[in-house]
Amino acid sequence: MDIIRDDQIDPAPLAGKRIAIIGYGNQGRAQARNLHDGGHDVVIGLRDGSESAARVEADGLFHAAPQDAVEGAALTMMLLPDEVMTGAYGAIEDALPRGSALGFSHGLAVHFGFIRPRDDLDVVMVAPKGPGTALRQLYTEGKGMIGLWAVEQDATGRARDIALAYGQAIGCARAGLIASTFAEECEADLFNEQAVVWGGVPALLEAGFDTLIEAGYSEELALFECVSELKLLADLIEARGIAGMREAISNTAELGAVLGGPKMVDDTVRQKMRDILEHVRSGEFAEALRREEAEAYPLLRKARAEARASKVETVRQRIEKL
Ligand SMILES: NC(=O)c1ccc[n+]([C@@H]2O[C@H](COP(=O)([O-])OP(=O)(O)OC[C@H]3O[C@@H](n4cnc5c(N)ncnc54)[C@H](OP(=O)(O)O)[C@@H]3O)[C@@H](O)[C@H]2O)c1
Repeated sequence: MDIIRDDQIDPAPLAGKRIAIIGYGNQGRAQARNLHDGGHDVVIGLRDGSESAARVEADGLFHAAPQDAVEGAALTMMLLPDEVMTGAYGAIEDALPRGSALGFSHGLAVHFGFIRPRDDLDVVMVAPKGPGTALRQLYTEGKGMIGLWAVEQDATGRARDIALAYGQAIGCARAGLIASTFAEECEADLFNEQAVVWGGVPALLEAGFDTLIEAGYSEELALFECVSELKLLADLIEARGIAGMREAISNTAELGAVLGGPKMVDDTVRQKMRDILEHVRSGEFAEALRREEAEAYPLLRKARAEARASKVETVRQRIEKL
């Protein structure tokens, strides 16, 4: 794996050039503030009546309507929810300077055809591997967050240099930039979100909690055992890896883990993971995301209400009050 760091990158492709950031949410705000602190000319593109305008101003940055923000920009970063990119790109397409670059922090919108960028544009990705709050925090501490970079369309021959210069400007190259592709970043990211960390793990925690309660254990104990220990596990894995984590726990816990883990993740579960990966790669998930947005998020609204009303959340709130 090729990791590129600050000292291998020429900042010139973006030095003194305007960068437009469309959207001022999780990634938009963090990336824009890092760029601003680094002396870049940054303009934020916000939709009409945007509630983020006050925050942009409080942060000491400038904002404009998206089609005005991209005027004269060498690079326009699309930092909005992936499912609204079609409309957002449509609003700026005619205003994007010829031969400029269009950038993303996730490959989905381009890989699954939500956006078909004009032929004269360089199309690049710099995807920090974590939330904007952490990207910003690390930057202010003089550190950086690992990021993936990729080029989907190299219209000018400069796309690679622009992607790397951007990764440097937002601080990712302090930690390292890893080469990828829009397809690889997007598919692996969606797979993880669904099958592993954000989909699989919480479902497993809740199923464990339900199993203990069903068997008559107290709700508080079930929560402590099956949900609250996750942070300990995450910290250990981050610090020592999976093998090191195993060595750091008691022999009792280690033997339990060695015997229990493979029973939980058996061939059926591995097949379900392959099915989820196929669902991602075929574009079915992207289509579901597009439908969800078009219908005003019926599944997400229902799931959020159910999660708020769930037993595990009720118990968590009760314990928090104590
Ligand atoms: N969140 C993460 O941790 C993370 C990590 C890596 C990569 N990414 C990627 O980074 C990109 C941005 O994600 P994000 O989580 O930062 O997005 P986000 O916080 O949800 O973006 C919010 C911003 O998008 C604007 N927006 C929302 N809907 C809009 C619409 N229909 N038209 C115009 N503007 C709209 C909002 O406008 P208002 O201000 O007017 O509300 C706000 O400024 C995505 O591609 C995502 O996959 C995210």
